Amino acid sequence: MKIVEDLKKIIIDAGKKLDLQIVESDIKIEHPAAVNFGDYSTNIAMILAKKDKINPRELANSVCQSIRLSNNQLLEKVEVAGAGFINFYLKPEFLIKEAEEINYEIEFRNKLSENGNGKIMVIDYSAPNIAKPFGIGHLRSTDIGQAIYNIYKILGWNCIGDNHIGDWGTQYGKLVAAIKKWNEKDLDELTIEDLEKLYVKFHKEAETDEKLIDEGREWFAKLEKGDSEARKIWQKCIDISLIEFEKVYELLGVHIDFIHGESFYEDKLEEVTKEIIKKGITKKSEGAVIVEFEKMPPAMLQKSNGTTTYFTRDMATIKYRLENWNPNLIIYEVGVDQELHFRQVFETAKLMGWMPDQGMIHIAHGLIRWTTGKFSTRKGDTIHLSEVIDKAMEKASEIANKSVVDKNLTATEKEEMIKAVAIGAIKFNDLASDPRKDVIFDWDQIMSLDGDSGPYLQYTYARCKSVLNKSKDKEQKNISEVPQNINNDEMALLKEFYKFEEKIIEASQRYSPAVIAEYLLSVARKYNEFYAKNRIIDQKEENFRIFLTRTTASVIDTGLNLLGIETIEKM
Ligand code: ARG
Repeated sequence: MKIVEDLKKIIIDAGKKLDLQIVESDIKIEHPAAVNFGDYSTNIAMILAKKDKINPRELANSVCQSIRLSNNQLLEKVEVAGAGFINFYLKPEFLIKEAEEINYEIEFRNKLSENGNGKIMVIDYSAPNIAKPFGIGHLRSTDIGQAIYNIYKILGWNCIGDNHIGDWGTQYGKLVAAIKKWNEKDLDELTIEDLEKLYVKFHKEAETDEKLIDEGREWFAKLEKGDSEARKIWQKCIDISLIEFEKVYELLGVHIDFIHGESFYEDKLEEVTKEIIKKGITKKSEGAVIVEFEKMPPAMLQKSNGTTTYFTRDMATIKYRLENWNPNLIIYEVGVDQELHFRQVFETAKLMGWMPDQGMIHIAHGLIRWTTGKFSTRKGDTIHLSEVIDKAMEKASEIANKSVVDKNLTATEKEEMIKAVAIGAIKFNDLASDPRKDVIFDWDQIMSLDGDSGPYLQYTYARCKSVLNKSKDKEQKNISEVPQNINNDEMALLKEFYKFEEKIIEASQRYSPAVIAEYLLSVARKYNEFYAKNRIIDQKEENFRIFLTRTTASVIDTGLNLLGIETIEKM
C-alpha cells in the first residue's frame, strides 16, 4: 500500500512545517464514500484538534496549505471538507502510470511480491472424507482455500497447500464392517456411491441392532493394530475415493500441493499424546485423557479405550507442519461447525508453546442455502457436487444460445466456454460474499449475464477482447500522451485501477476473496457504463480508450485467476 504510506509521509511532513508532531499510527486514510470527496481522505486534523482543543477546520486548512503540490507526483489537489476532513485528489498522470504498471504484468507481479517477502504460509483446505462423494460443503473449502492460496502467493508468500483428508477414525471401522457384511461385489468393482450406500445402511441397521456398533469398533481396533484384511479393505476405500476426488479437482482446476490424510499421522500420535500429557495440561476423566481450558469445554486427547481422536490428529498435524515447513502462518479453511474444535486446537498449541495464537487462523465458512432454506433435495437428501455441476453445465449451454453471445464460435470454443462459465459461475457464487456468511444458491443470479456473477465478469472480459481485436493499438500497453480532457466515464474507470493492489492486500488480511470479487464487479460495471456511452474505434480518443479497455481486461484476467476462475477470449 505504497500510496497510503506516501500520503502519511506527506501529512507528517506538512505537520513538521507547522511544528506539529504527527504520529504515523494516528493517521487513518480511507476512500471517501462519494467521488466528490476525493480519492482518499483522513480525519487526522479532527483527532489532533481534539487533543489540543483547537478548531479542526482551521487546523485542516493549515495542513492543506503546507502540503506542497508543485512537483508532487501523486497529488493534484487537497481540500478541506465537512468538520475538518482532508481530502486528497490523485493526479491523472499518476492514475495512468498505475494502470500501465498493471499492463506490464511482470512489473506488477514483482511489486506485489514484495509484500510477503518470502514468508511461509500453510493452508489446510478441501479435506473431504473418504467413502463419500465430494459434497458442497467441501466445495466451499476448496474454492475459498484455493483463492486464498493464490492471493498469498501473488503477494510473495511461500504457500503450501495441505489436504487433510478424513481417512481415519471409528467411522472407517464401521465402513469395513459394512463391506464385510453386505458387499457382494468384488472389491475392485466398488464405486464411491456403493461405499456411501453401505455406510448409510450401517447406520440405519445399527438403530435396531446394537451389536453392529461393537462390530464397527472391533474393526477399527483391527485397523489400528494393522490387521491385514482390515487394512486391505480400508486402503481400497481410500483408492476409490482419491480417484473420485482427483476427478473433481481436475474439473475445478484445483491443485493442492500435498495430501496428508489423517491416517498419515498414525505413527506420530503416541509421541504427541505423551508430550501433551508431560506438559501437565491434561487430566484423567473417566479413563479418558482430556485437555481443560479456562473458557471452553475440554478436548479429548485419548478415549477411555486408548484410541486417539480428531483432536489428537490435529495436534500431531500442527507439530508436523511446524517441524517440516516452519510456517509463519497456518490457515484452516473449514466450516463454521468446527469453530470450537479449532479454538481448542489453537489454544493447546499455544499452551504447548508451539505456535503463537495469531499464527493460526480458522476461516469458518458459512453454509450454502437455497432461497427457500436448507441445501438439500426435496426429500431432504444431501445434494452432491456432481448434480450441481451438471445443472450448471445445462444453464451455461442456455447462455451459449443467447443472442448476445458470439454466433461465430467454433464447436470447441463453445464447449470450452460452457465449461468455463459453468464452473466459474459456481465458484464465483462461493467467493463473492465474505466466507463467514452463509451463501444463497440462486440459479438465476449465479448464471446472470448482467448481474453480480462469474459469467458477467467473463462476458465483460470477452467484450474487452473483442474491442481490442478491432483496434490497431491493441498491443499497446501504455499511452502516447495523457489526454487533456478525460470525461466522467473514462475517469470513473481510470480511478479503479490503482486500487487493485490495495484490494489484493486487503483480501489477504481479511482472509476474504470476496474483497477481490467485489472489486472486479465494480471495475466491470464502470467499464460497461463507459462502453455504453463512448465509441472507441476510429475516434480521436481511440488510443486512450483502448488503453482503458486493455487495462480492464488485464485486471479482470488477473483477478479472476486469483479466484481460480477462467477467462474466455470469445463469448
Ligand atoms: N475432513 C474434515 C471434515 O470434513 C475436515 C478437516 C479439516 N482440517 C483439519 N486439519 N481438521 O470435517
